[in-house]
Amino acid sequence: MQTELTLNERHLYLHRYPTRQNETLQAWDAGDEYLINHVEQLGLPPAQNIVIINDSFGALSCYLSKHHNVTMVSDSFIAHQGAKANLSRNQCVAITHLNTLNELPSDTDLVLLKIPKSNRHLSWILDKIRNTLPANCRVVSVNKVREIHTSTLKLFEKHLGTTTTSLAWKKHRLVFSQLDASPQPISPFVEWSVDGENYSLKNLPNVYSGESLDLGARFLLPYLPKDERFKRIIDLGCGNGVLSVKLGQLNPNAEIIGVDESYMAVESATLNVKAALGPEFQFEAKVNNCLDDFAPQSADLIVCNPPFHQQLAVTDHIAWQMFCDAKQVLRAKGKLLVIGNRHLGYDNKLARLFGKAQLRQIAVNKKFVILQATK
Ligand SMILES: C[S@@+](CC[C@H](N)C(=O)[O-])C[C@H]1O[C@@H](n2cnc3c(N)ncnc32)[C@H](O)[C@@H]1O
Repeated sequence: MQTELTLNERHLYLHRYPTRQNETLQAWDAGDEYLINHVEQLGLPPAQNIVIINDSFGALSCYLSKHHNVTMVSDSFIAHQGAKANLSRNQCVAITHLNTLNELPSDTDLVLLKIPKSNRHLSWILDKIRNTLPANCRVVSVNKVREIHTSTLKLFEKHLGTTTTSLAWKKHRLVFSQLDASPQPISPFVEWSVDGENYSLKNLPNVYSGESLDLGARFLLPYLPKDERFKRIIDLGCGNGVLSVKLGQLNPNAEIIGVDESYMAVESATLNVKAALGPEFQFEAKVNNCLDDFAPQSADLIVCNPPFHQQLAVTDHIAWQMFCDAKQVLRAKGKLLVIGNRHLGYDNKLARLFGKAQLRQIAVNKKFVILQATK
């Protein structure tokens, strides 16, 4: 797998985050190269203020920070950590890191945007650009040709203004926008009630399954355990906090910690738990990569509905890291409760880690299986 990006006689060494032996996925794509070549052709004077939104693992930030003041904006903790590691690997100058809930710097000259998958997140970002940045700021976006639909361009027209596109290059296209539309305020939250439960959830635009209840979570909710001996429970990959709220209702004396790599997930989970269980409830949500830096032997129960992709790539390495971390962080006799699609084979993974005798199937239906591993 290639880790050296050579472009315009510059060489950058770029890895995904966290770095893995036998990695098969590259840390940049043709969209990054297209944007970089376009910026080179603009012939900008040095020290421009460039905002880079959704840089995957910092390829754009590393390249452009040599001559410009870069602010990287992403909802992903992993993307920021990846960019930091790559900036340091290539001896680049420090950049500013923001997430997509933060205000954009008002003196921005150029915005480079990698178009996100979710249209709601895209609208949120475009709205922020239109409302905060000066009318003469250039905005150049990129995505795979097959991901840029008429409806995508309509969002650019609606929230930013006049929009045109480039020719395709290596299956990618650039989108150029002027800031001449009248601002269209959008609501940050979508709120819905959880079927069969007595609470509702507010979802910021980039939260996983923010438009409706995840089917896996729906199946898991009735099987969440209640046990007075639980002192510390972790909701690993907490998303909007749907499982944390129910765990808190069942175990009102336990401390619950939600962990997610999305800033919007952590913010949504915090709001949702406070709204459902009250501000006094012992809950904290953290942005993190799995359970990095959690104390070993410190939790009684870890509940996990793991992700099966990182950015756009389908992968089970995050689930595996979550299971390995959970084993470290559980106390002796502590339990890891996992839900997954049956075809993902989590039973084999958990049996390898915890031992076959320590694994129990709690429930199964056509699509999902719920497994419990005891340390
Ligand atoms: C399948 S969703 C589950 C969300 C929620 N718990 C539910 O049941 O609906 C998986 C969650 O894991 C988060 N995630 C992905 N990679 C992560 C990582 N490396 N560390 C922590 N959380 C991660 C995603 O942002 C997402 O919210």
